Amino acid sequence: AEQVKPPRESWSFAGPFGTFDRAQLQRGFKVYREVCASCHGLSRVAFRNLSQPGGPEFTEGQVKALAAEYQIQDGPNEAGDMFERPGRPADHFPSPFPNENAARAANGGAYPPDFSLLAKARTYERGFPLFIVDAIPFFEYAEHGVDYIHALLTGYREAPAGTTLQPGQYWNEYMPGHAIAMPPPLSDGQVEYPKDEAGNPVVPETVDQYSRDVSAFMMWAAEPHLEARKAMGFKVIIFLIVFAALLYFTKKKIWARAH
Ligand code: HEM
Repeated sequence: AEQVKPPRESWSFAGPFGTFDRAQLQRGFKVYREVCASCHGLSRVAFRNLSQPGGPEFTEGQVKALAAEYQIQDGPNEAGDMFERPGRPADHFPSPFPNENAARAANGGAYPPDFSLLAKARTYERGFPLFIVDAIPFFEYAEHGVDYIHALLTGYREAPAGTTLQPGQYWNEYMPGHAIAMPPPLSDGQVEYPKDEAGNPVVPETVDQYSRDVSAFMMWAAEPHLEARKAMGFKVIIFLIVFAALLYFTKKKIWARAH
């Protein structure tokens, strides 16, 4: 389908030395939880991941309290029955719908994709062939997925004259084909953000900012070890440079002419 290239945004986690902004991940999680979670699952993420290093780094206490707010399907117990119990940090986020059919039935036939891997999936499925050069840090462009998600969430427009949309579809600049079955999920002021001493939100409570924050959160969900991977990559490159130099001088010595 026809596709408009999303604008490139700047992300704290881009580039060979990129790291997540903890406060941004925490805000993004709040947006996910208060707005998106009624339709979109996060099935591969466990509550305890939210307190691990390299992520939003909530405290273990916060994670325990959070998990306990969810009801988790468990069982069978000794009587052979399934039952529900409060969540524990090791549980994964429960899906908003029991299965895909139920999700489609609630969304006019469209399926709200699980967020666990979506930010990376959109980099590859709807990205440009640049991923071939991903391995070269200078060219790395793993942020297409988050650029796209941010663009999509801010990309709802009046349908151009002459366009026909099915009932339950909305016109979006960046959705391939432009017709999307997701109603615009965000509006200004919808999610409350942390305040500074003067009582002003630390970052604007706008659709643009919510979109950025939830996209960053989705990037972390899809790639929770991004920071460790980048740190290791840097060490590997340094090692290879030193090793290449050693090889070069060893070769020179071994192949030196005998005088
Ligand atoms: C699809 C994000 C809230 C229903 C999507 C897609 C993304 C997304 C990235 C994939 C688009 C694509 O295929 O490339 C979000 C975010 C939300 C949010 C970040 C919260 C801020 C919601 C809510 C609902 C919903 C509250 C239900 C009322 C859907 C549906 C689709 C979808 C039905 C499939 C659309 C289609 O295939 O046409 N969403 N969403 N979303 N979302 Fe959401």
